[in-house]
Amino acid sequence: MSRVEALEKVTGRGKYAAEYTVPGVVHSVMVGSTIPHGKIKRINTEKAKRAEGVLEIITHEHKPLVHGLSTEALIQETRFGLPVFHTDTIQFKGQPIALVVAETLEEARYAASLIQAEYEVLPYEVDFDAARKKVALNPAGKDRGEGWKEAAHSVEAEYHIATEVHHPMEMHATIAHWVDDTHLKLYDKNQGVNNVQRTIGRLFNIPPQNIEVFSEFVGGGFGSGLRVWSNALAAVMAAKAVKRPVKLMLTRQQMFSLAGYRPAAWQKVKMSADAQGKLVSVHHQAQNATSQYERFSDGITRVTRLIYHIPNVRTEESIVPLHMSTPTWMRGPGDCTGDFAIESALDELSYKLKIDPVEFRYRNLALDKHPENGLPWSTNYVKECIEIGARKIDWDKRSPEVGKIKEGDWQIGYGMAVGAWNAGRGNASAGMSLDAKGNLIVKTAMTDIGTGTGTGMMNMAQEFLGIPTHKIKVELGHSSLPSAGSQGGSTGLSSISGAVNAAANELKGVLLTLAQKIDASFGTAQAKDLRLSEAGLVFGDKQISYEKLFAQNNDQAIEVEASSGPGEERRKYAFLSSASHFVKLGVHAQTGKVKILQYVCVADGGKIVNTQAAANQMSGAVVGGIGMALMEEAVVDPKAGGWIGDDFAGYHFAVNADAPLIEIEFVNKPDVNINPSGAKGLGEVGIIGAAAAISNAIYHATGKRLRSLPITPDKIL
Ligand code: MOS
Repeated sequence: MSRVEALEKVTGRGKYAAEYTVPGVVHSVMVGSTIPHGKIKRINTEKAKRAEGVLEIITHEHKPLVHGLSTEALIQETRFGLPVFHTDTIQFKGQPIALVVAETLEEARYAASLIQAEYEVLPYEVDFDAARKKVALNPAGKDRGEGWKEAAHSVEAEYHIATEVHHPMEMHATIAHWVDDTHLKLYDKNQGVNNVQRTIGRLFNIPPQNIEVFSEFVGGGFGSGLRVWSNALAAVMAAKAVKRPVKLMLTRQQMFSLAGYRPAAWQKVKMSADAQGKLVSVHHQAQNATSQYERFSDGITRVTRLIYHIPNVRTEESIVPLHMSTPTWMRGPGDCTGDFAIESALDELSYKLKIDPVEFRYRNLALDKHPENGLPWSTNYVKECIEIGARKIDWDKRSPEVGKIKEGDWQIGYGMAVGAWNAGRGNASAGMSLDAKGNLIVKTAMTDIGTGTGTGMMNMAQEFLGIPTHKIKVELGHSSLPSAGSQGGSTGLSSISGAVNAAANELKGVLLTLAQKIDASFGTAQAKDLRLSEAGLVFGDKQISYEKLFAQNNDQAIEVEASSGPGEERRKYAFLSSASHFVKLGVHAQTGKVKILQYVCVADGGKIVNTQAAANQMSGAVVGGIGMALMEEAVVDPKAGGWIGDDFAGYHFAVNADAPLIEIEFVNKPDVNINPSGAKGLGEVGIIGAAAAISNAIYHATGKRLRSLPITPDKIL
């Protein structure tokens, strides 16, 4: 079944944040600092002020005071991180130093080009590799067993990951409209409208419920929308100053420094196994870059304690402050980075042991319980994921020897890796409204960032109520709807399923009360025995039409709302989503070009609520993984700070032409403990494992073990 929002999306009727028509709206453009560290000595706005159409120029010297940024303590409290326009201190290149507001976008952009700042330049550090060597590692979690332990076979290597940037198709944008002094409307690109309410509420010292957030259509997120960034703050400030609605959209270049990124990382893995191919120990060290003003830790070694039974584990991490903007969660945050190193090391060790990489994993999977906290898995189908994937790519039929398969100028290689992610669930509410014609609206504030949340909600409502899908409409991504957490960490559908289920039961309860007034035989019914058909409420072989039912309700629509969240089950079980990644690729002998020939990803996300949407999400994640492995790299300018090539010519990611037909398959077994739908969450596991599978396949093709992402042709040759 197609997406509920498909028609609105492809016809352009669905509105993204910056596309709303707000009467009287004016436009704004952000001006960024040209140095990575220092103080603004003087900022010359005179020429810009005189330019045509200019209404206002906000700088740290001329601004409406933002409550949440007015003291050091409040800045900590708001957790906004960056005191935009409230300091003369510059901590990264591109830090907003001015906002120009004008009648038109062109006028604002021209005036912005006239603004000049003089700085006192202070020493800065933007070189992650140089800086990280000065930062000590700290324990990340308790040693398991003896920590590090030698064994018959071992590998030891360092791994590097370049900075990657989310780059959703829709740039971050906000239209801010003060309705009065304490009420605000925000048309905003984000992954959680309630989070936007809270953050902006804290900053401007108004109750969150005074802020109405519209985010019905979101053009991708990948984690960049899990925080509120300077564009929202600046638009709200400007709207206050000019007393008109203000629109602000980041440019593609600004997306490199003003909406987070996956931080560059260094890792070192030591891994040992006995002669029987049982893992004995792993020692995993990791460092990731962060900014000077926030301590972002990606949690890179978390995954090391998750998938395999390893009796001795030591993990250490630290973060490395640079004069760069703050990184944030991005597609399989942390685990994606850590998994690359761990699954590469496993592959390397398997060749040393002369055990097939698949078999080596089978011998070490922690299939009974969470290897760290000891809780039994509610469900764990990692092994099934591997088995199905191996079968689909004909793993056993390949020549296991390294560098042996050739097709013309191409060296062919097969590689595999495993990805896993703690399957989470948050609190969420959902509403339902049923009218006298039997039309149902299912509602939640949760956004749909392109993953198919709304479609999944429709499928779940259909399952829980029985009502045909053509009678169902979905409303989401708006703050007046029943509250929900942000859409992230592969928790969206898992969280909302409980709420949709609870609302469905409420609705049945109300209908049952009405039915019992009409037909005494409904007296013995319970909510679970009831079904909503096209025409009415069904109990066994009895049906009461909507017309009759609603006559009992003065023909008024029935409105219910219910909440649900994680509970006792979290103390009894551990929950895991997982995936296997299998790759067949070619490496061109002369140019070092890598061509992915076949990609199989088999995932366990519990019950698959909507196969098309789930498969879309997974193949999209795999394309992200191909980008991570082979292309994506934001390059820092070591002299001037900031990024080099901060546009789509300089920053490459995988497009359809770089991806084969990606085969997605699901184990599709419900996890009955996690939530009423049995869905565990997908998304993250579509990228966690991809980079290692590709790197492992390049090794199989060429005999070259490459441990620095992205694996560009220069590294292969
Ligand atoms: Mo994602 S990093 O769960 O948006």
